[in-house]
Amino acid sequence: MTKNTSAGILSDERREQRDEIVTMLTKAYWMEIETVMSYIANSVNPDGVRAQEIVESLRQDIQEELAHAQQFATRIKELYGVVPGSMAFSAEQGYLQPPEHQTDVVHIVKGVIEAESGAIDYYNRIIQATEGIDPVTNDMTIAILRDEEGHRRLFEGFLREYQADGLA
Ligand SMILES: [Fe+2]
Repeated sequence: MTKNTSAGILSDERREQRDEIVTMLTKAYWMEIETVMSYIANSVNPDGVRAQEIVESLRQDIQEELAHAQQFATRIKELYGVVPGSMAFSAEQGYLQPPEHQTDVVHIVKGVIEAESGAIDYYNRIIQATEGIDPVTNDMTIAILRDEEGHRRLFEGFLREYQADGLA
């Protein structure tokens, strides 16, 4: 394959840096996929009046997280990587498993905050690692980070309300 040597991160001599970014993007891709799974379950399982706001919010977030997964996947491909198949997946979100009682929305709210915080930490690392190296991945991840910060802020507000009501 002939590649333009002045083509930035896509140039031959930057293969090593590219591989490192693809590795990070792959982890980010799996984080998004697992979040989609967790949010589907937690947007369907809950019972009760208090759960409705959470359910509605998670339902919308599913679409955003899915779009993030697709963006990470597309960037893996653009960097000459291969998006992994499902056999390579391993789950990590122990804290987002269904609660014992389906009215326990506080459990879900805390789990969502933890998932978003994990994403925020990791995406900040990607942003640092790609700064001045891969502006496209950098820019894309900044936009995704903004969504995650927005989600976390919203759920922090839910938690604050539960705490004020003595429920958390
Ligand atoms: Fe996301």
